[in-house]
Amino acid sequence: MKVRMRVPATTANLGPGFDVFGAALSVYNEFEAATVENGKGGKIVLKGEGKIALPKSEKNLVWQAMKETFKVLGETKYNFKNLNITINTGIPLSGGLGSSASAIVGGIALANALCGLKLNKSQITELAVKIEGHPDNVAPAVFGGVCVCSKNDQNPHGEILHLPVPKLKVVLCVPSFELRTKRSRQILPKCVNLQDVVFNTSGVAFLTAAFCTGDWTLLKKGTQDKIHQPYRGKMIPAMNEVLRAAIDAGAYGAYLSGSGPTLAAFCDAKKAETVKKEMTKIWKKESVAVKSYILDFD
Ligand code: HSE
Repeated sequence: MKVRMRVPATTANLGPGFDVFGAALSVYNEFEAATVENGKGGKIVLKGEGKIALPKSEKNLVWQAMKETFKVLGETKYNFKNLNITINTGIPLSGGLGSSASAIVGGIALANALCGLKLNKSQITELAVKIEGHPDNVAPAVFGGVCVCSKNDQNPHGEILHLPVPKLKVVLCVPSFELRTKRSRQILPKCVNLQDVVFNTSGVAFLTAAFCTGDWTLLKKGTQDKIHQPYRGKMIPAMNEVLRAAIDAGAYGAYLSGSGPTLAAFCDAKKAETVKKEMTKIWKKESVAVKSYILDFD
């Protein structure tokens, strides 16, 4: 038996919505699992962006997620040696574009397909959040579109709201250096200033209003943040200058994608090339090699 899945990249936080907002984007990882007779499998074939960087052993996150799913479903028929897995990564690794969430969701979905699709999308999300720890990449990776996630002690796997999907372009500038999410979360303060929380609360209200009304001018305030970007910005050269360049070039809003280091901007299709060029120019001046993309919401 052979099963295949395609999972989108995701951009999380969207500025002020730390660990709450996430959106799916039109670039994908593809996953395949094929059953192999006589225990002669256990191969992980890597293609695309992750060709060199991802482990080919049982440590691979896709296999780890599959293993966890088989455990949850009580399925003992499958093990590493009777499956071959192919991973074709289109999503840049450790860039703040949900590559880990994609691997986790891909692995769960493959295992679920092998077991006869016993889990629905909410259950896949619940399991993926348990593995990833935060919901804002996982939810849009499963459902697509723009998701608002709530996860708290009473509801550890979260509730998800879906907002209208904007007809805007998302410009992404992905620098060549990686920033691991673990590190990017470790440097955040345990407590934040009340005034900064008030600032972010109004930002989230503007962001939600923009998505619900289509008034994109609200996104300038609706993508600003004071509770994670200022700390993460210390590890990202010229972050504020690149974000400002996006706005000056006509983007409606600009922010650090997920835990970074990718920087993102929302704009109309006709402005996208200029926004991309101006953002890239700042990083090139700082001698940062950068790959840029103009994507749609998925
Ligand atoms: N909300 C998460 C964070 C997303 O900012 O750490 C990680 O991609």
